Amino acid sequence: MSLITPHGATSLTPLLATGQRLAELEAESATLPSITVSSAAAANAVMLGAGYFTPLKGYMNRSDALSVATDLKTTDGLLWPVPVLNMVERFDGNLGDRIALRDPNVDGGPVIAVMDVTGIECLSDDDMALMTREVFGTDDPNHPGVATFSSQGQILLSGPIEVLNYSYFQSDFPGTFRTAMEIRDEIESRGWKRVVAFQTRNPMHRAHEELCRMAMSDLNADGILIHMLLGKLKAGDIPADVRDDSIRTMVDHYFPENTVMVTGYGFDMLYAGPREAVLHAVFRQNAGCTELIVGRDHAGVGDYYGGFDAQTIFDERVSEGALEIDIYRADHTAYSKKLDRVVMMKDAPDHSKEDFVLLSGTAVREMLGQGIAPPPEFSRPEVAKILMDYYQSLDQ
Ligand code: ADX
Repeated sequence: MSLITPHGATSLTPLLATGQRLAELEAESATLPSITVSSAAAANAVMLGAGYFTPLKGYMNRSDALSVATDLKTTDGLLWPVPVLNMVERFDGNLGDRIALRDPNVDGGPVIAVMDVTGIECLSDDDMALMTREVFGTDDPNHPGVATFSSQGQILLSGPIEVLNYSYFQSDFPGTFRTAMEIRDEIESRGWKRVVAFQTRNPMHRAHEELCRMAMSDLNADGILIHMLLGKLKAGDIPADVRDDSIRTMVDHYFPENTVMVTGYGFDMLYAGPREAVLHAVFRQNAGCTELIVGRDHAGVGDYYGGFDAQTIFDERVSEGALEIDIYRADHTAYSKKLDRVVMMKDAPDHSKEDFVLLSGTAVREMLGQGIAPPPEFSRPEVAKILMDYYQSLDQ
């Protein structure tokens, strides 16, 4: 049985070195000049290493970065929605150097990858502004993705890499971090064919849970891959370990056995809304999924994006056939007091706002912080308990 074809390749192209090659690279890296890279560049290395960014071979140069930013395509015509970059503040080496990249997120800065420097280019302020506007839809420095992107430096180092490890993701999240290869293997061994991916950076409340159930039933899928982000988030977002715990508890209590895989990937949140949704689709295809759920304000932050821009981008900017994975488009989903169940609003045209249980993120955070559980129509009590414990631990 063969799973969905990876993006732009016949098989995955993970850049992680293993066995003898890993031992050679470890020995060699001790002799190489080294630089400490940004968290974003280290996260790119993890995604490249783990097969998720198939078929890329390393960090993009300026012409690919600008082409991806403006046209969602590399200069070779491959669909890619977000530049994959290694930007630094200064570089004392030369073209053709082999260098070791040190991990900023692990004590002692171990080498995460070895890179052949085939490009050293200085990005202009105009290049930076163009990329932020195209990728994030804004150049507002208060946007968390723009702030991170703009703070890494403007010297672009491009070239192929070989990856030595998965940073802190494997050690901190051994039960949850998975590579694209591991997810494909598990899908195969479960005998699943139609697999729906659910992206999340949040704990799952009733709306998220029911979205998974609706997608599973509408698509007649064999299973759901809950695939959570394990990397860096903006201040105020729930840390990955608490989210992991709450999602596992929800799945254990409310989903039939063997219908859900709870997993995670090692990447920092970009908050790039529509562009990040396309990236999410690319790497879920690489992980062997046939559909990705994209709902309201997918990968969004504040009010930078329209509620469903992350769905329309697939019609407007992704050409027919560029992706094999399909998008399951979810409307705003909430608990209906009239129907006593969670519904998509489009399926309840006779409802007014008051007929739904709607709570803002801020209101929910305030309740949890005060030890008040949100109503069971909004959050499962087992999930609310974990989140209340977390918020209350912050006050101590
Ligand atoms: S995200 O940044 O990872 O997208 P989040 O974990 O909140 O954030 O959302 C996960 C997925 O659920 C996204 O596809 C999002 O659009 C969808 N989603 C979250 N809440 C709702 C909702 N109430 N109605 C419809 N879709 C939703």
